[in-house]
Amino acid sequence: MPFLVVNFKTYKQATGQQAVKLAKICEKVAKKTKVHVIIAVQNVDLFRVSSEVSIPVYAEHIDPVSYGANTGKDLPEALVENGAAGVLINHSEDRAELAQIEDDIKRAKGVGLMTIVCAPTSESSESIAVFAPDFIAVEPPELIGGDVSVSKAKPELIAKTVKLVHKVNKEVPVLCGAGIKDHDDVKIAIKLGCEGILVASGVTKAEDPEKALLDLIKGMAKPKTVKRSKR
Ligand code: G3P
Repeated sequence: MPFLVVNFKTYKQATGQQAVKLAKICEKVAKKTKVHVIIAVQNVDLFRVSSEVSIPVYAEHIDPVSYGANTGKDLPEALVENGAAGVLINHSEDRAELAQIEDDIKRAKGVGLMTIVCAPTSESSESIAVFAPDFIAVEPPELIGGDVSVSKAKPELIAKTVKLVHKVNKEVPVLCGAGIKDHDDVKIAIKLGCEGILVASGVTKAEDPEKALLDLIKGMAKPKTVKRSKR
């Protein structure tokens, strides 16, 4: 079953107590549909949210530092202790250099965190695949937060990313995101070889997030097998 990753970012509807409320909706939908719903929350909300839900809660940022004098940094061990199951790395709104991406992945893996590494292009996805993250999510920055989805605006980018990443490492699942709003967007992404999607505003800003999630999941439904008539 594909993955549906909801990035809470710093949306008001997904901060603090509201983050817990939204996380519980995501959990309800995950249980109902059996889809792997993962949520990424602000690091300051990790403990609060992960204490209330059983679905995987990811951090939105990691710093590849060790215990010691690192004021203001997000220590990998502390993320784990506060309930993180994984982490988003190199999101378009939180870019890192390639060398730091490698360090982030190493440190995250070292403490048992799953890694979703974002990339703006197929080429950068290919470079990141060398580090064997658990997922690569391709997101064209200019479509993030908008109403036109990557699936409809740049299907060729998705197909090329899947091809280039799998040329480097067949084991790395590719996700895509940016502007994803409905089941059609998801259907196209899956058809092009993605194993799931990364979504934010389509859920966090929806009037009815449960309805929005269920609609996205409709695009993940496997095609029904057609029974052959006996002749
Ligand atoms: O991390 C997901 C994200 O960047 C896509 O945002 O609002 O276009 O779904 P959005």
